Order: sequence, then C-alpha cells, then structure tokens
Amino acid sequence: MNFKEEILNLKNELDVTIVAHYYQKDEVFELADIVGDSLELAKKAISTQHKNIIFCGVGFMGESVKVLAPEKRVLMPKIACCAMAKMIDVDYFNANLKILNDAGLSNNDILPITYINSSAAVKAAVGKMGGYVCTSANAFKIIEKGLTSGKKIFFVPDRCLGQNFAKQIGLKSAVVGIDNIEVVMQADIICFNGFCSVHQLFTVEDIEFFRNKYPGIIIAVHPECDPSIVEKSDFVGSTSQLINFITKELDPEQKVAVGTEYNMVNRLRPKNTYVLSSTKPECPTMNETTLEDLYNSLLSIKNETFANEIFVNDETVKYARIALERMFEV
Ligand code: 13P
Ligand code: SF4
Repeated sequence: MNFKEEILNLKNELDVTIVAHYYQKDEVFELADIVGDSLELAKKAISTQHKNIIFCGVGFMGESVKVLAPEKRVLMPKIACCAMAKMIDVDYFNANLKILNDAGLSNNDILPITYINSSAAVKAAVGKMGGYVCTSANAFKIIEKGLTSGKKIFFVPDRCLGQNFAKQIGLKSAVVGIDNIEVVMQADIICFNGFCSVHQLFTVEDIEFFRNKYPGIIIAVHPECDPSIVEKSDFVGSTSQLINFITKELDPEQKVAVGTEYNMVNRLRPKNTYVLSSTKPECPTMNETTLEDLYNSLLSIKNETFANEIFVNDETVKYARIALERMFEV
C-alpha cells in the first residue's frame, strides 16, 4: 500500500488537522498541516477549525491540546511517552514537596513551575498551588515572573533546564535527591531530579572534537543539555530559537554543530551543519510514529472507532488549564 497517497486522500476527505513536532520522522513531518515546537503546537493546534486533531508527537503534547481545547477530539497515532515526562507523577511531586516541608519549607513558601514535558495530572497539581507551566522557549520569562512572588521556585521535572536558567539569571539552584538538604534549602530554584535521555547524550568531548576539527565552529545546544555542555556552548535555545538562529542569523558559510534531536538537525540547512555527537541522537519515542500509524489513525476517524483518543478528566483539565493559561498570560 502507498501510505502517503492514502493519507493524502483521507486527509482531504475528513474533518481533520494533522500536527507534528519537529522531532518526528521526515516522512510523517512532511504530511502535517501544522508543524512546530511544543509551545507553537499547543497554540496553533487549538485554533484549527477541524473537529479532529491527529497529534504526531509524545503523550504530554496531545494532552496539552486536549486540556486547552476539550471540545476537540485529539488522537495520537502512537501514544508515545516522553522519557522525561515519565520521570515524574503526582506521587513523586508530592514526595518531593514532603522532603521540603520536613526541612522547614511550607507549601505556602513554594511556587512550582513545571516544564510542559509533564503529564496533565502534574500540571494540575502545579496549577492548584498557583504555579505555572513553561516551555524551553519561555522558561526564562516564566521563572522571572515566578520570582516576583518572593517564594522558592520548585522546578519540575527537568533539572538541567532549572539549573541552566538559574545560572543565566545568576541564581543558586540545587536538585532534590542529589544535593544535600541544607544546600537545597539555600537555593533560589529547587529542581526535581529529572532529565532528557536524548539531550544527555552530548558530551564535553563532543564539543572539544568539533572545536579541534573545525576551528571557529559555533556550538548551539538545547537547554535540556547538561549545564557542563551549555557552559561550553556559544548559543543555547529552544527548538524554535535554534532553528531561527541557525537558518536566519548565521552566515550560511558558518559551520555549526547542534546539540539536539537528530531528525530536527538533519532538516536544517544541510551544508555546514553537524550533529554534536558521534551517535545518532534520535528521540526513541518521537520516532515511534510511522506513516502506517498515521494512516491507521485517519482510518479510525473514517470508521468512527477513534483509535488512541486522548481523554483527560474534568478536574485535571480545570487545574492544568489554569497553569497553562498563566503561562500564556506571561
Ligand atoms: P521544544 O519545547 O523545544 O519543542 O522541546 C520539546 C522537547 O521535548 C525537547 O526535547
Ligand atoms: Fe522527551 Fe527528551 Fe524526547 Fe524531548 S527529546 S520528547 S524531552 S525524551
């Protein structure tokens, strides 16, 4: 079967919008109506006129669309889970708060901020405490806004993002479970001990290798990379910020090694652009979605069986939405 042709036919016939994150396989990415990073997708997907949204990405992204637009039907060709988002659930969130409470910090003195890479349930727990969602594109602004509350920021689940932004603003950060509790209590930004398994693949040796091989090369990385990598880089930015920097701001002759997911880097201007790794840093779960899955998802709309539909309960929608909307207000 020619999946591409069948997908195009079904797309024309059905009341559906296909959205895809930049980390999707090329063949899936090129059939999407809307592409973007997590922030762009959350905004653009909810403004579509179509009733059905097929989200090619990872679970928390589909959930975010459902939370923001519960009247839409959101389907995912694969309910793939972001490894980082899986590192925290509401029990872990509460267990970390308990550690802080036992050390003398009450919940009234804590403002939680969750990276968008978390479940709707974690976002709701954050929303209930007056906290915010952020993405890598707006984390700086959200953290600055959070600091005006005078409370300690509890940043979940990506410790690297928390540590990198704290450093950028000149604040102290510490990680629950890694640093001792006295150090944690003195930090301005207290981080949960989660991380991205893909962005952990970039090493200081990779940077040294590229700098030695191509003197003058620019190193550009995503803030999910370890602080030791960010420190040695020339540019740090979210997915959309990296794309903008590399395609619009850099001279086309300028060599650049990029520390983020492989499919995305591969799609940037091919000449003079390198993946900052000797491995192929693909996100395994983003890569789970195939053309056949997309075809099956469309077919399930046609047959009204709606495979892999995303449901979020009303209570979770209510509070997760508050945390997401607070982000949009900032
Ligand atoms: P963006 O917010 O930059 O799209 O990143 C999402 C993500 O999962 C990066 O690993
Ligand atoms: Fe999650 Fe990392 Fe994959 Fe992004 S690259 S979806 S943070 S596992």
